[in-house]
Amino acid sequence: MGLLLKVILPLMGLGLAMLAATSKGALLPGGLDMLILNHIGHSYFNYFDGDVDHIRKLLETNFLSYVAMTVTALPMLKESEGNIVVVSSVAGKAPGPFAAPYSATKFALDGFFSSLRHEFIIENVNVSITLCILGYIDTGKLNATGARGLRRVAPSPKEECALEIIRSGALRQHELHYPPGIVNGMLLLRGLAPGFLDTLIRSNIVVENVQRAPPPHGTRVPPAGSPGSGR
Ligand SMILES: *[C@@H]1O[C@H](CO)[C@@H](O)[C@H](O)[C@H]1NC(C)=O
Ligand SMILES: *[C@@H]1O[C@H](CO)[C@@H](O)[C@H](O)[C@H]1NC(C)=O
Repeated sequence: MGLLLKVILPLMGLGLAMLAATSKGALLPGGLDMLILNHIGHSYFNYFDGDVDHIRKLLETNFLSYVAMTVTALPMLKESEGNIVVVSSVAGKAPGPFAAPYSATKFALDGFFSSLRHEFIIENVNVSITLCILGYIDTGKLNATGARGLRRVAPSPKEECALEIIRSGALRQHELHYPPGIVNGMLLLRGLAPGFLDTLIRSNIVVENVQRAPPPHGTRVPPAGSPGSGR
């Protein structure tokens, strides 16, 4: 498994997808077995600032590019009876505060790929789709911005996470929940007691550590309850 990881890890994210998108098979004479979609654009951990353009750009990176790469890779994946692995987040199932743009893009992935999976099954397209619902992973990315706002949450190791992502794709699971204890617990609570889960999520955020940023030039968030804010 060590060698497999060495081969696959550098390919995770844009690298593999761009190879698939640009080569039209020529650079992949042996075909393509697994498409792992795992890249995101930068967003902020803060109150929604009213910047619609940021959300449009984030959707382009976090969602539309996943769709485009899937379309490009699909002929090769049908050939190999391969796997599509979509890396998402608990923010795409049970959102917390201060991540509205990010959370929106992750929900979009669930909607698109879970619908597409139905179609594959109906049409006997033997390409599996695995949606990875990840909790807080020790990638170091949250350190600068988000971690100050989170309490009591220990990150899970990225190495084990990467292995679980590959394994769940190879086993053709519909979803990976990692780390299983926390993520399964949250999803169970979401079904049984969503209000309680929301309270629990907010209690894990240190709101005082999140400073409301000044709104970007020319835009503002209408106050809650104002005309036009409740569409
Ligand atoms: C789908 O593909 C997998 C991997 O090649 C194979 O093990 C499985 O038998 C296939 N299922 C069907 C229904 O053909
Ligand atoms: C932040 O990064 C440092 C070193 O990179 C690490 O020791 C520390 O545990 C990290 N903190 C969090 C909250 O992830």
